[in-house]
Amino acid sequence: MPGGGPRIGFTPIAASAADRITVPPGYTATAFLLWGEPVGVPGNMPAFRDDAGNSAADQAVQMGMHHDGIHYYPLDGSRRGLLVMNHEYTDDGLLHAGGMVPWTAEKVRKSQAAHGVSVSEVELKDGRWQAVRPSRYARRFTASSPFAIGGPAAGHALMRTAADPAGRLALGTFNNCASGMTPWGTYLSGEENFIGYFSSADQPTAHERRWGMRKNGWGYRWHEHDDRFDAVKNPNEANRHGWVVEIDPYDPASTPVKRTALGRAAHEGAWVAVTKDGRAVVYSGEDARFEYIYKFVSRDRIRPGGAKANAELLDHGTLYVARFDAGGRGRWIPMRAGEGPLTAAAGFADQGEVVIKSRQASDLLGATKMDRPEWLAIDTATRWVYCTLTNNTARGQPGQPGVDAANPRANNTMGQIIRWKEDGDFDGEGFEWNHLVLAGDPANERPEAKGNIRGDLYGCPDGIAFDNRGVLWIQTDVFASQMNRGEFQRIGNNQMLACDPGTAETRRFLTGPVNCEITGACWTPDGRTLFINVQHPGETPSERSNPEEPRRFSNWPEFKPDGRPRSATVVIRKDDGGPIGT
Ligand code: FEO
Ligand code: CA
Ligand code: CA
Repeated sequence: MPGGGPRIGFTPIAASAADRITVPPGYTATAFLLWGEPVGVPGNMPAFRDDAGNSAADQAVQMGMHHDGIHYYPLDGSRRGLLVMNHEYTDDGLLHAGGMVPWTAEKVRKSQAAHGVSVSEVELKDGRWQAVRPSRYARRFTASSPFAIGGPAAGHALMRTAADPAGRLALGTFNNCASGMTPWGTYLSGEENFIGYFSSADQPTAHERRWGMRKNGWGYRWHEHDDRFDAVKNPNEANRHGWVVEIDPYDPASTPVKRTALGRAAHEGAWVAVTKDGRAVVYSGEDARFEYIYKFVSRDRIRPGGAKANAELLDHGTLYVARFDAGGRGRWIPMRAGEGPLTAAAGFADQGEVVIKSRQASDLLGATKMDRPEWLAIDTATRWVYCTLTNNTARGQPGQPGVDAANPRANNTMGQIIRWKEDGDFDGEGFEWNHLVLAGDPANERPEAKGNIRGDLYGCPDGIAFDNRGVLWIQTDVFASQMNRGEFQRIGNNQMLACDPGTAETRRFLTGPVNCEITGACWTPDGRTLFINVQHPGETPSERSNPEEPRRFSNWPEFKPDGRPRSATVVIRKDDGGPIGT
């Protein structure tokens, strides 16, 4: 554990229910890179229309909706760089004029174009961060962009479709949640709730059921106008999603790759540690109730020379799933075809099947069913690895798993942060673990909702990241339907806090506008600019706006009388130019 210290210098702020961003005295927060702004593709920069009248073709070269994970890639140190970010999902009530009525092929294409990943060039000019447009780096990846498939599932029979009989080139990435930055300068993005876009037959297969596929999907309705998302017509298409994708933002001509060796999951994101001998260790959780935490250890060492020199690094190695035992010890269980219960008879004829069916493999291996693993963060100074477990209200309900040491609360509305340290190096197969904190409010009546927070209160931790001074920053994602009421009455809008990992003490740094989630955190190398994302300001409790009332809950950040709330990146600077958090 690191010792406590005067790392956190700002004056903490109160919880807030206001429709604005609040930061401590001496700090300024400014929104830019709003949903719908042109990303900056030369010769193709359509302006945003406040009436949601942009076409699918416009949206394919504009910032996507629902900003999430984000990283800064320097071009000129801390003055100019690329911001690469995910656009997790869409609110189709807000995205289209008239919302989902009528539901057309053009609206499906626009929804698909509003998903994915964007690459924006930004620079600090006259004391203000702004987009550089046009830019030769500007790029959008959408639900239709080509992705190569790497690793053991490439070319596998379960990956082949009529459109891609070789099973080596998938179209699209969507529901990209968190992100990671590799030491060799690429961007990792997790395909999270991908299964919600597919429709199944009346009687889904056991495999489809295990992955949560429903007859009419989860409400995106893409399958109604795009057969690729109809699992009766294209049963293998869903297997081509749920991967960690790797993007080289510095090469605008590069084809991104789905890295199947890391396992298929409702990946939140992927975070890279490096062993003492230079191999990559990629941690990844699956944000779903009772799913798992994974790590991948590369076979080869990271080579100097950036993305090109490490083009196949994440295709070869060993995948493990975590088991957290009582008493503060745990094991990483290797997931290898032919080992232990992962036999051909059990449905694991080769490693491709192991990674495509990683949930089923983890079930057989007796891994620990977690409370929705969200972000991970690696403390490079102490080598402890942290993971947010955001909540799990099904824990302990009839027919569901009960509490265990790592997930100790039934009807867990509040979430917790778990951490572990590997035996030896990051590739160790055993570890010690404990909880940094159980989130909650001690004023709550229900013992399971009280928690043990020291300092400012929060619930549902989601984003976490270390800055280069060793401060752990925590971001929250309380559902709009729960915010500022019941057990969350005193906790306020979603927020960002600074935590000293040595003492677990938290101080509230930022509060967001109404019904948004605060997510994504990256700094310029000098630590003097912090970029975060505000996702879905004004989201309705049903997560789909009434197109007649786009401003019902929020009109952040522009507050135009005829506008609509827009996800955006927020730049935070200290007024005296000092490092963020001091
Ligand atoms: Fe997309 Fe797990 O939050
Ligand atoms: Ca998240
Ligand atoms: Ca979340």
